[in-house]
Amino acid sequence: MKLNWLEFAAMNNPVRAWLQHHIEARRLLEMGGPATNARALEIGCGRGVGSKLILDVFHAATVDAFDLDPRMIKRAAKRLKNRGNRVTLWVGDATQINAPDSTYDAVFDFGIIHHIPDWHKAVAEVHRVLKPRGRFYAEEILKDFILHPLWRRLLDHPRQDRFDHQQFIDALNQAGMTVTADKPFRQSIGWYIAEKKT
Ligand SMILES: C[S@@+](CC[C@H](N)C(=O)[O-])C[C@H]1O[C@@H](n2cnc3c(N)ncnc32)[C@H](O)[C@@H]1O
Repeated sequence: MKLNWLEFAAMNNPVRAWLQHHIEARRLLEMGGPATNARALEIGCGRGVGSKLILDVFHAATVDAFDLDPRMIKRAAKRLKNRGNRVTLWVGDATQINAPDSTYDAVFDFGIIHHIPDWHKAVAEVHRVLKPRGRFYAEEILKDFILHPLWRRLLDHPRQDRFDHQQFIDALNQAGMTVTADKPFRQSIGWYIAEKKT
């Protein structure tokens, strides 16, 4: 589901870009290593900061990226316009990824799967589009944060069937990936690296 006005503002400002670069991407890089020369995909790319990091920090060769919200894709296109044909953007849904099976060496999720009511479907789609031994880099927001009374008032997330740290790991394993690294922060945020089984 799309963001409410408050989360839209929170996602589109320089503080968030700084955090994404210096904390979130750095943590995923430490846990999963670079994606050198990879054909990469970012699901729910928002305003395109993650895709920029996938090229510049993870050293992917190309990045395909999509988001449910056309306003986000407009912003991402502006941000990434000088990257030429290394970047392809579209409006799309993570529960029906517009790519053939086994397309990508790496798939990135900077906090989007918790926005999806049928989040298991999105995990299955990530698995489908990864090549065997391809790597999934994920940062996710966990049930305790989503259901916290303060954040319930301020933010708009699906509330049924949310996941905690272990449930997200179990879902990745059940979808056919092996979780190689994971790190929770207070049952609120989790970081995950998973590899598609051959
Ligand atoms: C919390 S924001 C994160 C955006 C970006 N990844 C970032 O880190 O700045 C979640 C994003 O997921 C997008 N989104 C929500 N449901 C989606 C879906 N089913 N498929 C693709 N994108 C989705 C929203 O439009 C929003 O841009």
